[in-house]
Amino acid sequence: MPTPAPVYKFVFRHVFSRMDPERAHHLVVTGLRAAHQSGAGRVLELLSKPDPVLKTQALGMEWPSPFGLAAGFDKGATAVLPLAQLGFGHIEIGTVTGQAQPGNEQPRLFRLVQDAALINRMGFNNDGAAAVRQRLQQIRARRRALTRAGRHVPVVGVNIGKTKIVPLEGAVDDYLVSAKALAPVADYLVVNVSSPNTPGLRQLQDIQALRPLLRAVGEEADAAAGRHVPLLVKIAPDLADEDIDTVAELVLELKLDGIIATNTTISRDGLRTDAADVEAKGAGGLSGPVLAERSKQVLVRLRKKLPEGIAIISVGGVRTPEDVAERLRLGADLVQGYTALIYEGPFWVRRINRGLAALRRQGRV
Ligand SMILES: Cc1cc2nc3c(=O)[nH]c(=O)nc-3n(C[C@H](O)[C@H](O)[C@H](O)COP(=O)(O)O)c2cc1C
Repeated sequence: MPTPAPVYKFVFRHVFSRMDPERAHHLVVTGLRAAHQSGAGRVLELLSKPDPVLKTQALGMEWPSPFGLAAGFDKGATAVLPLAQLGFGHIEIGTVTGQAQPGNEQPRLFRLVQDAALINRMGFNNDGAAAVRQRLQQIRARRRALTRAGRHVPVVGVNIGKTKIVPLEGAVDDYLVSAKALAPVADYLVVNVSSPNTPGLRQLQDIQALRPLLRAVGEEADAAAGRHVPLLVKIAPDLADEDIDTVAELVLELKLDGIIATNTTISRDGLRTDAADVEAKGAGGLSGPVLAERSKQVLVRLRKKLPEGIAIISVGGVRTPEDVAERLRLGADLVQGYTALIYEGPFWVRRINRGLAALRRQGRV
């Protein structure tokens, strides 16, 4: 069956692009949930389920596809199973913070259509660790039943961050609240220290702050879950090369399981959109194809330092199956995307998986 990309492009141009981007997001999520509750989600799942040739081993688990959904799309785990039906090999929920918080004032999400990019300053709007834990507990039970029934079940990772009102000095304790609540219901855990929209957060990438934070979260997560929960750290593309090396060395020192690279950038370089239009959007993290070059540089740099067995999840500007394959060839174990889903629509994941499966069959990845 041909993928209805032109249909989505039409809807995007004539409906979504005229709406506030955050409203459009909620509309899409509502639609996916409705599809999941009706039989339509099952049809979507049958069409989009990854080819078995894409099965991947990483972080001690089997992933149905190396391609997954990056953090930020489903911050509160309210649409994990509907999103699973699009064919993602994994879904990273969050960023979740210790306390519930509303995020920044709206508008806080902007499209740069000419660049197929987004600028966001959401500011970790989420329901807090306790509420998200409950949802993930229910989803885990449901996933077990789906696995038994031979259905498509993605890996579910949980990305945690700092509550805005907690001062930096209290950051470790705040992350521990989330680690304790969420590690037991996570397949893997990510410490996010790289979003540009929580004041001071990225200072936690400094090695003196990062070492005690990661050590404490790792210990708390394993103790709370009663098993080893793979732990990764997510870094910004704006780190200097030497700082990327230092984080890689820390990952080795602490025996962390991996790194996610990268988050959005605060840079505005390389955009085609008129500079005044870009400036008018204001502060925030930029995502989309403009991020791809730096994301690849960071991946290559990390892989030089990190042996096989330490997972690298590459994210930033991926749009085509060839883009995903390239990240895998450059040393990524897994790949994520977010912004292209907005521009390409729900069948994008199916196209990625099918393209990737063809490349794998040809021995090209
Ligand atoms: C609207 C939006 C919200 C995001 N929220 C989060 C978040 O809460 N936590 C996080 O780690 N990354 C977040 N990200 C970053 C993405 O996970 C990803 O790292 C980044 O967008 C680059 O990938 P892309 O070019 O495929 O979008 C967000 C991105 C966007 C566009």
